[in-house]
Amino acid sequence: MGEDRYLTFALGKGRLANQTLELLERIGITCEEIKDKSSRKLVFVNEELKLKFFLAKGPDVPTYVEYGAADIGVVGKDTLLEEGKPVYEVLDLGFGKCRMCVCGPKKSEELLKHHEMIRVCSKYPNIAKDYFYNKKHQTVDIIKLNGSVELGPMVELSDVIVDIVETGSTLKENGLEVLEEICPLSARMIVNQVSMQMYAHRIKPMIAKLKNELEKEK
Ligand code: PRP
Repeated sequence: MGEDRYLTFALGKGRLANQTLELLERIGITCEEIKDKSSRKLVFVNEELKLKFFLAKGPDVPTYVEYGAADIGVVGKDTLLEEGKPVYEVLDLGFGKCRMCVCGPKKSEELLKHHEMIRVCSKYPNIAKDYFYNKKHQTVDIIKLNGSVELGPMVELSDVIVDIVETGSTLKENGLEVLEEICPLSARMIVNQVSMQMYAHRIKPMIAKLKNELEKEK
């Protein structure tokens, strides 16, 4: 495959995509088409640089990159940990910073301390499982929810939740708090394993430029 092949980016829809596009602009990678918010198009092209961009649901980004439908992806570390796909994680982009935490009402603190058999609601069952089984060696019952996970302890479905905490205001407004911190999170750039070898001459200089740009922020 020659130089004419498009390099394809899969971006997690929403704030992450916007921040990624801003960062890419700073190293001269632009995509005017994608800025038109009234457009219903799904795939956007920069003919001059031979780049393609598409916006996908965050949890699907590692899948597109794993199969090579996208060479490069930008997604939250939470999704990478949860999906566990074989892709190269090449860069911490520094934005989208938040924390993965065990949260609940204050009274659940004791249950955590004494390694009781508890119920845990989460959108991230794999992260929850890894934390409780492999790190804490505590047997728990994990219940997968798809959002508004804070409801779990509030309607007595679970004792705690494993969820993302950014500002902490969702927890506060619902009478919950951070009980344990699992890990920090932020947006990451990922690359397909084959693309990384085949298009190293295009991908590596781009990563180096991004790194350099991110260094300036420090
Ligand atoms: C996320 C997360 C928390 C909230 C944390 O939910 O699941 O509920 O944001 O943010 P905060 O600490 O700044 O309040 P999201 O908005 O993605 O919706 P969801 O509940 O449907 O997952």
